[in-house]
Amino acid sequence: MNVQQNHLSDQSPTLQTSASRRKFLGASAAATALTTMVHTSSARAEEELEIRIGAVGCGGRGKGAVNDSLNINSRVKLVAAADLYAKNCDYMRRAAGKAHPDKVDVADDKMYDGLDGYKRILDDKNIDLVFLTTSPGFRPYHVQEAVQAGKHVFAEKPSCVDPAGYRMCLAAHEQAQANHTAIVTGTQYRRQVNYIEAVKQIREGAIGDIVSAVSRYCSTGIWFRNRTPEMSDAEYQLFNWMHHIWLSGDQIAEQAVHNIDAMNWVMGSPPVSAYGSGGRFTRPEGSEMWDSMSVDYEYPGNRMLSFTCRQIPGSEGDNGNVVYGTKGICYIGAMSRGSRITDRAGNEIWTQAGSIADAYEQEHKDLVDSIRNGQPIVELKQTAESSLTAVMGRMSAYTGQKVSWDFVTQESQLDLFPKDLTWDSDLPKPQFAVPGATKLV
Ligand SMILES: NC(=O)c1ccc[n+]([C@@H]2O[C@H](COP(=O)([O-])OP(=O)(O)OC[C@H]3O[C@@H](n4cnc5c(N)ncnc54)[C@H](O)[C@@H]3O)[C@@H](O)[C@H]2O)c1
Repeated sequence: MNVQQNHLSDQSPTLQTSASRRKFLGASAAATALTTMVHTSSARAEEELEIRIGAVGCGGRGKGAVNDSLNINSRVKLVAAADLYAKNCDYMRRAAGKAHPDKVDVADDKMYDGLDGYKRILDDKNIDLVFLTTSPGFRPYHVQEAVQAGKHVFAEKPSCVDPAGYRMCLAAHEQAQANHTAIVTGTQYRRQVNYIEAVKQIREGAIGDIVSAVSRYCSTGIWFRNRTPEMSDAEYQLFNWMHHIWLSGDQIAEQAVHNIDAMNWVMGSPPVSAYGSGGRFTRPEGSEMWDSMSVDYEYPGNRMLSFTCRQIPGSEGDNGNVVYGTKGICYIGAMSRGSRITDRAGNEIWTQAGSIADAYEQEHKDLVDSIRNGQPIVELKQTAESSLTAVMGRMSAYTGQKVSWDFVTQESQLDLFPKDLTWDSDLPKPQFAVPGATKLV
């Protein structure tokens, strides 16, 4: 990624050049080649078992993900943090240190700010695992570079906001598999008991053949951050990232991808096409996001998904998934609402509770266990496909055209990330899509 250092950096990042590289658990060929130190004492052997974490993106979810990992795993330690803003690194250190004093050791010179502070974490041979929890637009670049640096990765969703980012993710997935390094993504519902058991029931025929599904992620709104006079275009958009499509991907990718991912899981593959519509009624001026979008997704086997996402104050919320089969109906509630199956007459025949808090931790247990077992999980492709499914729906709604999976995977040239991004960059004024006028590229 071509980015230049944030001029607001108040201290030069310290490049870590430690020659004593730690022996990697479940190490890749690439990572093993980087690890030369021979450990002899039992104390050193114990240290080898410790997994050292560097966090990139120290906002709400970054702090949450680090906390989840430190909660559920033994012998893990947060040792470095990077964020656009130095104060956010400090918040991360303080929050994690307060909850887990024995699992946090972040020296002042291991906190890096600015647009390329993350590179210092990737350069640090003492770090085994990086958490990539920035705004989504950076994700493909950060994942790609982290894999190239031989790191194990936890990467939040969505994996990408455009087809160009999707292709980068596929390449990173393959490289991680070749390196034997892990990539676990923030699609926690894949590890939530009521989701896992519901998909199992469906696979075992409890509702017969799947005919169609309805999935909704509808809420009453999302945050908006105001501009202050001294902010450049780039600084403001990075700060108010949710409302700029190159950074968030719009609601359907940023938030509703959770339910799209669940539907791809249930259906067994991404859809073949999307036909979407929607609009923008209540967003603040300066937001590029739509506030409602409905997409008909067609899956292989003539199975249809009716998908809606909405963030409109005063509207009725609904967050969940319903799968209709020839013999029954499966309800998979989001958050911690559980799952249930009824027959076609409405009689309940199966239920299962599930906790999203447990799922948030389980993904970090699975990640660390997989590293220690020498069988690192690599699941980026699956989440990149779900992210691209969301993007395909958005592209269809924005343009007013039916869009196929073949088009988005093979032909689309859409690449939203600004070239030569710096902290002072002038960026195009926010604009929102208009179906019929916005071109499909
Ligand atoms: N899995 C989930 O349930 C879940 C929940 C919330 C958020 N998320 C995802 O987590 C990600 C972060 O969301 P959030 O709510 O924490 O947002 P946030 O705004 O609270 O935090 C993002 C942080 O990243 C930093 N950042 C941005 N660009 C950076 C860069 N290039 N280098 C270093 N730091 C950078 C920002 O300064 C900010 O501190 C998003 O992708 C979001 O979709 C997932």
